Amino acid sequence: MTKSPLSERPRKSPQDLRSHRWYGVNDMRSFGHRSRTAQMGYHRTDYAGKPVIAIINTWSDINPCHSHFKQRVEEVKRGIWQAGGFPVEMPAMSLSEPFQKPTTMLYRNLLAMEAEELLRSYPADGVVLMGGCDKTTPALLMGAISMNLPSIFVPAGPMLRGDYKGKFLGSGSDTWKYWAELRAGNISASDWQDIEDGIARSAGHCMTMGTASTMTSATETLGFTLAGAASIPAPDARHGQMASLSGKAIVEMVWHDMKPSDFLTQASFDNAVTAVLALGGSTNAIVHLIAMSRRAGFALDLDRFDALARKTPLLANLRPSGAFLMEDFYYAGGLRALLWQIRDLLSLDQLTCTGQSLFEQVKDAEIYHDEVIRRRDNPLIEGGSLAVLRGNLAPNGAVIKPSAMEPHLRRHQGPAVVFKDYNDMASRIDEPGLHIDANSVIVLQSAGPQGAPGMPEWGQLPIPQKLLKQGVRDMVRISDARMSGTSYGACVLHVSPESHIGGPLALVQDGDIIRLDVEDRRIDLMISETELAARKAAWVAPPAKFSRGYGALYLKHIQQADQGCDFDFLQAEPARSDEPEIH
Ligand code: FES
Repeated sequence: MTKSPLSERPRKSPQDLRSHRWYGVNDMRSFGHRSRTAQMGYHRTDYAGKPVIAIINTWSDINPCHSHFKQRVEEVKRGIWQAGGFPVEMPAMSLSEPFQKPTTMLYRNLLAMEAEELLRSYPADGVVLMGGCDKTTPALLMGAISMNLPSIFVPAGPMLRGDYKGKFLGSGSDTWKYWAELRAGNISASDWQDIEDGIARSAGHCMTMGTASTMTSATETLGFTLAGAASIPAPDARHGQMASLSGKAIVEMVWHDMKPSDFLTQASFDNAVTAVLALGGSTNAIVHLIAMSRRAGFALDLDRFDALARKTPLLANLRPSGAFLMEDFYYAGGLRALLWQIRDLLSLDQLTCTGQSLFEQVKDAEIYHDEVIRRRDNPLIEGGSLAVLRGNLAPNGAVIKPSAMEPHLRRHQGPAVVFKDYNDMASRIDEPGLHIDANSVIVLQSAGPQGAPGMPEWGQLPIPQKLLKQGVRDMVRISDARMSGTSYGACVLHVSPESHIGGPLALVQDGDIIRLDVEDRRIDLMISETELAARKAAWVAPPAKFSRGYGALYLKHIQQADQGCDFDFLQAEPARSDEPEIH
């Protein structure tokens, strides 16, 4: 039998388990816990002295990315039972990217709080986190990091490639692409319907290198999954095997008390950022990884992203930065093969949740298709797949993805065309009389964490129809919004501070000249400081968007994009081990 890498660590006795306080003592309260467990058909021999493993499952009828989780949770349970644990499924809110309005980002912190409080308030010794659709991954991990119980993540896995008239379709990326072609009159309504029917044809999350694939890959690199877990397509039989093995692994992790704080380090967050950059991953990862690292007590900031971006080559030839899809990536060797290619940029001695080092997880992983995963000496881009911009328009930073924009726009100067909010943009962008040309810079205000609110993925601002018809497919666009990881274009995002709280983006007026210089990492409004100060003095704060409920809590405590958009009261310390007495 193979020796567990965790066997070097001390092993708990059943009396040391957190759940012992619910099940193992002899008082009236524990009588209630046992009798109510018996009520569900369990005999005391099913759980006595065993680790109780919570399974936080974000399955929902309205989340197509997790539609296979009903089956996967049974596979996770199978692994837990086989390893001698007691599985307890705990459904949590599902942040369904395609359906939730105004944006799932508004609710990321709510799911993080739910995950943390489920674990705190119930007899959980360890947890299997089941997520994958964009915000579910960072949310579950933020909660688990704060609670700091043994935790393993089961990624939903990407769906299969989309299919349309013999061509592959990528989630999101091809929606934007063909929507532009439809608006330009290059495809018919019937073509558009065929695309609708073929673009999402199995369970699983988006199969481009969008936010979901980016975040699950970052999660694997951080050490929260079994080796290779993030790349397996959702319908593949190996995905079910991974779920079951994860169930087995968490039981061992509980016995040896392997918690997030035992393997997360500043270096493991650097590893995750480096992986995201080599993948050409979503800009959303910046916000999420900053939030996660702050939960773990590490200071990851925008400058670190930019520094790592300059030296990390882009190796994954995946849409939207490249040509292929996640299914191809898996067959080409997956994340392990990519990480082995950039091993000199990683701290491979970092531990993972199973007690293996990252080195042991990726050692000698082969590339089977080196057009999908480029070898180190043949990158798509040498470095700089992501850039952090600063300037008088974004004093606290903004981001852009140079790998997914037209190169001629990397140094650009043009007059601003300003939209004061999303509705203003939607109503005027296609007006034939709008004064705009390919040289203009489109500006959207009020799309940030407080302004929208929730910082939706509006950052890939639409190109006016009249310019599309002229063949224009990319323009410089600026907002305090985020952009879908599946999007592309010369979009300056996450401008901080945001316009709604009086950031300089709020002060831009039609016709102002804006200069973007990706090489110099600058984004500037070319007006005098005196004029900028005068506009600031005349600026009037808009009313808050919520006055009650969760929205009011959100507005009171949400932080800006450069700080990860966590709530100020959640970020600080990991959960204390001296929890209140349980009665
Ligand atoms: Fe769920 Fe894209 S819609 S990952």
